[in-house]
Amino acid sequence: FLIDKGNHRHFMAKEIYEQPEVVGRTLAHYLDMSAGRVALPFDLPVDAARLSRLTICGCGTAYIAGLMAKYWFERFALLPVDVEIASEFRYRDPPLDAGGLTILVSQSGETADTLAALRCAKAKGQKVLSIVNVASSTMARESDVVAPTLAGPEIGVASTKAFTCQLAVFAALALAIGRARGAIDGETEARLVSDLMAIPGLMAQALKCESAVEALARDIAKVRDVLYLGRGTSYPLALEGALKLKEISYIHAEGYAAGELKHGPIALVDGDMPVIVIAPTDAVIEKTVSNMQEVAARGGRLILIGDEALSHDFAGEAAASIVMPNVAPDFAALIYAVPIQLIAYHTAVVMGKDADQPRNLAKSVTVE
Ligand code: G6P
Repeated sequence: FLIDKGNHRHFMAKEIYEQPEVVGRTLAHYLDMSAGRVALPFDLPVDAARLSRLTICGCGTAYIAGLMAKYWFERFALLPVDVEIASEFRYRDPPLDAGGLTILVSQSGETADTLAALRCAKAKGQKVLSIVNVASSTMARESDVVAPTLAGPEIGVASTKAFTCQLAVFAALALAIGRARGAIDGETEARLVSDLMAIPGLMAQALKCESAVEALARDIAKVRDVLYLGRGTSYPLALEGALKLKEISYIHAEGYAAGELKHGPIALVDGDMPVIVIAPTDAVIEKTVSNMQEVAARGGRLILIGDEALSHDFAGEAAASIVMPNVAPDFAALIYAVPIQLIAYHTAVVMGKDADQPRNLAKSVTVE
């Protein structure tokens, strides 16, 4: 069918804006909204109650979705998780138990390293579940179970809507496996399902930060390096923010766990390098706040992504604030992904770069 940019200048912008709809559609596929429960549209290929660990593999942004999922599987399913870069996993000859579960994550379902990781896991007797956006892909065909993301075709080379749909699928899987393992009760499941159901509406609200992001992008476009910091699920999101910015604006960026600031990157803090702190109000916010104070105390250029209360508290210290709606902490990363993507997009646009077709990158890396 016809794929066009609608009213947007680039596919990437269109795909960022589609997220409330496609994340909503993906969630609806995995949740029984009226019952307030997870309802997977397939049977798991393993007995979740007997799993001793879970392996997740992917490349690029899909790998980062796996890093975030680790927090959810450990918290909601009490299941230890190994998250692996597919190209490392496939050549390391990792010991895996026959009958265990490996989850592969890939927008295209064709990435050579992820496909090789799938075959490697299968050869070791693992059951394989693929989270893919292309239902007819090789990975989908070779998997025991396919968990689709319903993002629709993603044209922009840098993944956006596929990423948040992968997160939606992972969140539902973590709750389903958590329930099967007796790690969450019905009440907790209902609360978390209702938090998930609120996400599409909150993403739509988060998109309203676009004009603030455009102003910020004009500053970021002038710098050489950017540091992203976060704790908890905001840590993988910091990695994703840095990856997105590198991919499409070619500005050097790094994502760090905020607690690691003092173990290296603080040496880089000066008045030039923006330090973007992803700081939703969650269980570790006070720790993140102390990292923000460390940056401010060294004359750093603090850029805050947080809720109204936080941006009010840091009005004097932050060079800029991107204000997010108040969100339940467990899945805040899906909402905070929106400004992360918009920062990269608008910086690329200000710099006159082609956000849809960045140099040297391919949408799908089907050769090694
Ligand atoms: C390429 C794309 C990335 C993507 C990665 C993995 O590097 O530029 O946006 O995250 O491949 O692709 P996959 O199709 O496996 O998700």
